[in-house]
Amino acid sequence: MAKTVVITGASSGIGLALALEFAARGYHLGLAARRLDLLAQLRDEVQAKYPDPARRIEIVALDVDQPDAVAPTLRPLFEALGGVDIVVVNAGVNRFTPVGRGELAQAAQLIQTNLIGAIATTEAAVEHFLGRGAGQLVGISSLASLQAIPKQGAYCASKAGFSMYLDAARMELKRKNIAVCQILPGFVLTEIMPKMDKYPFAVSAAQAAREAVTLIEQRKAVGVVPAFPWRWLRPFFGHIPDALWRKLA
Ligand SMILES: NC(=O)c1ccc[n+]([C@@H]2O[C@H](COP(=O)([O-])OP(=O)(O)OC[C@H]3O[C@@H](n4cnc5c(N)ncnc54)[C@H](OP(=O)(O)O)[C@@H]3O)[C@@H](O)[C@H]2O)c1
Repeated sequence: MAKTVVITGASSGIGLALALEFAARGYHLGLAARRLDLLAQLRDEVQAKYPDPARRIEIVALDVDQPDAVAPTLRPLFEALGGVDIVVVNAGVNRFTPVGRGELAQAAQLIQTNLIGAIATTEAAVEHFLGRGAGQLVGISSLASLQAIPKQGAYCASKAGFSMYLDAARMELKRKNIAVCQILPGFVLTEIMPKMDKYPFAVSAAQAAREAVTLIEQRKAVGVVPAFPWRWLRPFFGHIPDALWRKLA
């Protein structure tokens, strides 16, 4: 029987590409983001590309910056879909937050979205899974959770925090039939930051999504996308000379 997946931040980039990839593999879809018009366009694109009268697609406007509203928004979505097997916590932002330039508000906002918003989404998903007695939570973290990038301290901190939270959740939920999976993308060509193509080994969102969905279906605890070269370089993170990363700033 076809599974059902809910994806936050599905209106663009990796979230949109994940929706198309899951659709290609026959999943029912729940799509959430602030830009409802883009979600409606994506729903139409899925229906045109992968016609299937039996497929359920629901869309909902969700702002994870309002943490108290996340569960009340997602519960009706989960119900409308008739129960959900997988929730992908993907919504996120990035911007430069150089240290000591009085940009505390920017850094705090980023952490609000990427960490508090992600935790609020995780809460709502796990509440649903506990009620059903099963489920799979997927967090889109980042290789930046393992490796600092100059001028992106708030982003790296938000992703390191989310990864640690997911690790704790994984241990806590193991005996409750709820799997927790972290996907750590390297550099993916999306609108999240300008000039993403200047970063090393940047791949398309479609490639990142293809690899990510395969790892999710394998129920990996941690998966790196793209696998080449990051899976092999990962053990060296923390030992790569700072000068190389400073070039990226
Ligand atoms: N691109 C990369 O190189 C890369 C690398 C590692 C990790 N990631 C992670 O991958 C995830 C997706 O990023 P992306 O590269 O695909 O960026 P993107 O194209 O800018 O997409 C970000 C998505 O998050 C949603 N979003 C942002 N703020 C939100 C909010 N307050 N409430 C609800 N949704 C919100 C946006 O939708 P609306 O604006 O419509 O709300 C959009 O759909 C992020 O968590 C990011 O940190 C990306």
